[in-house]
Parts: sequence; structure tokens; C-alpha cells
Amino acid sequence: AHIVAEPCFDCKYTDCVVVCPVDCFYEGAQMLFIHPEECIDCEACVPECPVEAIFHEDNLPDEWKEFVALNAEEAPKCPVITEKKAPLEGPSCNAKK
Ligand code: SF4
Ligand code: F3S
Repeated sequence: AHIVAEPCFDCKYTDCVVVCPVDCFYEGAQMLFIHPEECIDCEACVPECPVEAIFHEDNLPDEWKEFVALNAEEAPKCPVITEKKAPLEGPSCNAKK
């Protein structure tokens, strides 16, 4: 499955959600999560994220390995998100759009 990692935190640009063919993004308060049992690894979302927060679990940088379990735990608890919304653009988010 694909994983949403640290760069999403406090950013939530949500460009990713509109391209997902199976609507498997879920919205937490500070970041989004991908439901690992629903993601079909199409990779459509990867280039859409302005802060490069989305990785296939096999390509996830070591320091973000914890996000595999976090996505699996949090996605089922959160509401699905399928439409783009205003980003948080918090202090930890340094992308330019
Ligand atoms: Fe959705 Fe494809 Fe991204 Fe998985 S890889 S979250 S199916 S857009
Ligand atoms: Fe997060 Fe990037 Fe999507 S910042 S909301 S993974 S476009």
C-alpha cells in the first residue's frame, strides 16, 4: 500500500484525494491517512502532493517507518475525504504552491 508520511503533517494540501480512484484517503486533524486495505497502488497520488508526503511502503524513508502502522490505525477511525479543501500550511510545512 501507499503511505502518507511526515511531510503531510500540518499541511494537508489535499491535492492527493481528488485523483484516488478508490477514495481511500481519510482525514485526521493534522494529516491524511491512506487505508492500506483499500489502496490499489496505482501511484496516481504520488506526484500530486506538493510536499512529497506519499510513498509506497517499500520506498518509505527509514525515519518514517512508523507511519505504516499509523496510517493503518488511523484511516479506519477517520472520515473519508474526496474533495480538495483549504490546506493548513502550518509552520512545519515549507512547500511553495
Ligand atoms: Fe489512491 Fe492510488 Fe494513491 Fe493508493 S496509490 S492512495 S489507490 S491514488
Ligand atoms: Fe497531505 Fe500531500 Fe495529500 S500534504 S493531504 S499527502 S497532497
